[in-house]
Amino acid sequence: MGVFYLLSCWVSYLIVCLFLVIASAFLGYCLYIKHIHMKYDHIPGPPRDSFLFGHAPTMIEETRSGRNIHDKFLQWAEMYGPVYKINSFHKVIMAVTCPEATKEVLMSPKYPKDKLLYERLFNRFGVRFLGNGLVTTTNHEQWYKQRRIMDPAFSSLYLRSLMGTFNERAENLMDELTKLADSKKEAKMLQLVNRVTLDVITKVAFGMDLDLVNHDSPFPKAIETCLKGMVANVRDVFFQLNPKNRPFIKEVREACQLLRTTGEAWISNRRTAIQNGDNVPKDILTQIIKSAGQEDEITEEDEDLMLDNFVTFFIAGQETTANQLGFCIMELARRPDIMEKVQKEVDSVLGMKQEISYDDLGEFTYLSQVLKETLRLYPSAPGTSREVSADMTIAGYNIPGGTIYMFNTYVCGRMDKFFKDPLMFDPDRFHPDAPKPYYCYYPFALGPRSCLGQKFAQMEAKVVMAKLLQRFEFSLVPGQSFDILDTGALRPKSAVVCNIKHRNQ
Ligand code: HEM
Repeated sequence: MGVFYLLSCWVSYLIVCLFLVIASAFLGYCLYIKHIHMKYDHIPGPPRDSFLFGHAPTMIEETRSGRNIHDKFLQWAEMYGPVYKINSFHKVIMAVTCPEATKEVLMSPKYPKDKLLYERLFNRFGVRFLGNGLVTTTNHEQWYKQRRIMDPAFSSLYLRSLMGTFNERAENLMDELTKLADSKKEAKMLQLVNRVTLDVITKVAFGMDLDLVNHDSPFPKAIETCLKGMVANVRDVFFQLNPKNRPFIKEVREACQLLRTTGEAWISNRRTAIQNGDNVPKDILTQIIKSAGQEDEITEEDEDLMLDNFVTFFIAGQETTANQLGFCIMELARRPDIMEKVQKEVDSVLGMKQEISYDDLGEFTYLSQVLKETLRLYPSAPGTSREVSADMTIAGYNIPGGTIYMFNTYVCGRMDKFFKDPLMFDPDRFHPDAPKPYYCYYPFALGPRSCLGQKFAQMEAKVVMAKLLQRFEFSLVPGQSFDILDTGALRPKSAVVCNIKHRNQ
């Protein structure tokens, strides 16, 4: 009896101690949050949803309701000015639209990509995803080494040699559109351009012939699932805790796995070809293999890095360009005046010619403007962020060192103070004689971590659009939305379903 009593006293004592430890840890954490709040009190920002969670509930609500979260950032930028704060637990993020600060931070190699975001892209629900690949690595040395090795696959000389593939793959799309025009069937343009860009990246980057315009493939769905998983993982801190989300999480893990096992097989084939002394292209896959180290002593880490970059190029090189094309077709279809002008330019450069040359691309001045304007209103990859370790003054506010800065070209592109009548689609904003936007337009980011594939993407987009405009009239099937779907990348919410007619019919 006495022993039993003593034991129960001990248990109660332990429970009380445990409770006290948890309570003081929680109190300590709350005091720390209070300290953080006070440190940033002088900087404007929307009222926090809660002391503990900061603005996280708003982010979660925006994500769960399927709204475009960048519209919320835009609304806040209009209300709170060129720099405002967003809290999430003890973390503080500065949303910056001030052009001078954008220039200072993005153009300098001093400020690394922020670990909070980019390390969340390393894994997707426990399966390695973008890892330490070129987009996500936050380590300057590792990034610099990879980028230097990758550069030759994006040199002007090498890109020039890709014109044949761009033409050939875009012709597959034209053949499909011809069939749809002949049979008077509707064309789901977003899906079709997605297949072309995937066809191009798999051929050009990895030397694989998928011919996706004519064949089904699991890859488009896998990429979409991975991106949706990315949004859930990054923006909704409670996502994994909800049992309802388990089937989706499983789907995301399988999609990541599919991309990585595909990478393993393709890399292995290419390495065998290199070891056999076969003549292999100097494409992205060859550079990925080089960037991972010496071919005869590949470590597990090297293997992982190769797969990281395989998945990185598979994703970065495809969906972004497809979405730009989708939005461009959508805007041209609702602006016949702009369509007519760009068609005239294409006719005068190409006439009846089928094969587009590298030099032709330089003649498409107005088409370039149309593509740039598309990315102003609809930047496929709207934001980037950096860690700034030293104090900095922005718009008169002293921002303490050790803060994350978030830059968003979608927000700047839609602000009246940078672009007059911002919601109007007007390619003349990018007329060669018009003043260049000053650090308020950066759909490919800026500075050392800017997009490696910018030129590649715009060559591809011009080839596809020029062929489309040369051969077809297209109009949107009524009832479609012009809204934006935020899946990590921004894409048209509707499938950009068009009626297609041969030109001059
Ligand atoms: C319209 C098409 C595209 C857009 C709007 C776009 C946009 C961007 C943006 C905003 C970044 C910076 C991301 C960040 O800061 O987190 C980026 C990085 C990158 N993009 Fe693109 N991109 C496009 C097409 C491509 C293509 C076609 C490729 C490859 C073939 C590519 C490869 C990359 C790579 C490798 C990086 C990382 C660069 C580095 O950190 O050194 N992108 N892109």
